[in-house]
Amino acid sequence: MGMGMGAARGGAGAGGWVPGERWRRVLFLALASVSFLISLILLFLSAPRLRLPSIAPSTAAASAIRRGPDAPPCLAYLLTGARGDGRRLLRLFLAIYHPRNRYVLHLSADAPDDERRSLANGVLAAAPAVGAFDNVAVVGDPTAGTPVGSSGLAGTLRAAAVLLRLHPDWDWFLTLNAADYPLVTQDDLIHVLSSVPRDLNFIDHTSDIGSKEPEKVQQMIVDAGIYLCISLIGSPWVILNRQFIEYCVLAWENLPRILLMYFNNVIQPQEGYFHSVICNSLEFRNFTVNNDLRFMARDDPAQTEPPFLSREHYGQMVDSGAPFARPFRENDPLLDQIDGNILKRWSHGPVPGAWCSGRKRWFSDPCSQWDDVNIVRPGPQAVKLHLYVNRTLEEAKSSSNSCRR
Ligand SMILES: *[C@@H]1O[C@H](CO)[C@@H](O)[C@H](O)[C@H]1NC(C)=O
Ligand SMILES: *[C@@H]1O[C@H](CO)[C@@H](O)[C@H](O)[C@H]1NC(C)=O
Repeated sequence: MGMGMGAARGGAGAGGWVPGERWRRVLFLALASVSFLISLILLFLSAPRLRLPSIAPSTAAASAIRRGPDAPPCLAYLLTGARGDGRRLLRLFLAIYHPRNRYVLHLSADAPDDERRSLANGVLAAAPAVGAFDNVAVVGDPTAGTPVGSSGLAGTLRAAAVLLRLHPDWDWFLTLNAADYPLVTQDDLIHVLSSVPRDLNFIDHTSDIGSKEPEKVQQMIVDAGIYLCISLIGSPWVILNRQFIEYCVLAWENLPRILLMYFNNVIQPQEGYFHSVICNSLEFRNFTVNNDLRFMARDDPAQTEPPFLSREHYGQMVDSGAPFARPFRENDPLLDQIDGNILKRWSHGPVPGAWCSGRKRWFSDPCSQWDDVNIVRPGPQAVKLHLYVNRTLEEAKSSSNSCRR
């Protein structure tokens, strides 16, 4: 209907044109089409240039990363999800991507292969840096993903082993689930963790299992020769350093192996395995911080699962300074609020950090080009995170050894 009306008006006006006016119109039309053409050409010229880095050889990009005790820490993430979690996992991944870090993405065995393939393709398409820095692996032959039974723990240990074998150059191993989301940028997190001793492990545990379901953890003799404290339970979401992961995976001492055999028969081994190993090991128990660095709105400690976060929690959550929060519903507007206000993630690309050097324009992702990835630029949320981490470390220091029963 709009088209028909426009043609009728044009037809009526054409008859009354005087020559001068006609020329002016022709000139205007010509200028308009030329400038349209020029902008089209510019658009096409700039598009391939924006994608160039992904074709560049990855070794050059990856070798530009500084590692070691004097460099900023490198984080190794395990992201887990179940059938139907592919999109959530991609969003979570983009919210925590940084070229310095390492990532393993695991969609459990109940998810179809198509979903796994879409996730892998989505990761590559959304962040050209992934191809150049070669720091992401999507698990192709997954384990079952139920929290009940041994396969969840087996999947976590396997991902840790894969990370050790592929690139043993990271400092902390972090586990996240599709229902988790960050409250700080990776620049914030890397900056603050730079001042945290790397021998620390963040693991939430309690021996007060009375408030939880006592049937989950049973008292039994693990090994008649060794006294072990196994009545520990906590959050399955952990931040463990590489030395401790090597201790558990390579198991040159018998403790991790004995406990693994025991936890094979526990209903929810993920809530107790690492906790029991760390608190029974003389080498690591003094370097344990009883906090998993996640924000949860748990009103009732007897509840096993905390409630979903909603708008009413936003202020408290952001002010807490915690680096991660959980659990969120899929595509909750709260996540858009976090993206817009804190992470400054507007497009479908990763969170722009100091490493992103591309121009910020509506049609291009600033992270499709990059500069020195060893530089981080902490934002305003980093101050809250630093206070939170300082407070957590102070509490860990002042309380008696949290591993003690
Ligand atoms: C751990 O702390 C205890 C007591 O606080 C101390 O006796 C022990 O030597 C410490 N162990 C290590 C490995 O630092
Ligand atoms: C946290 O503690 C470190 C030293 O342990 C200090 O340099 C830093 O200023 C503290 N940050 C905040 C925000 O309190």
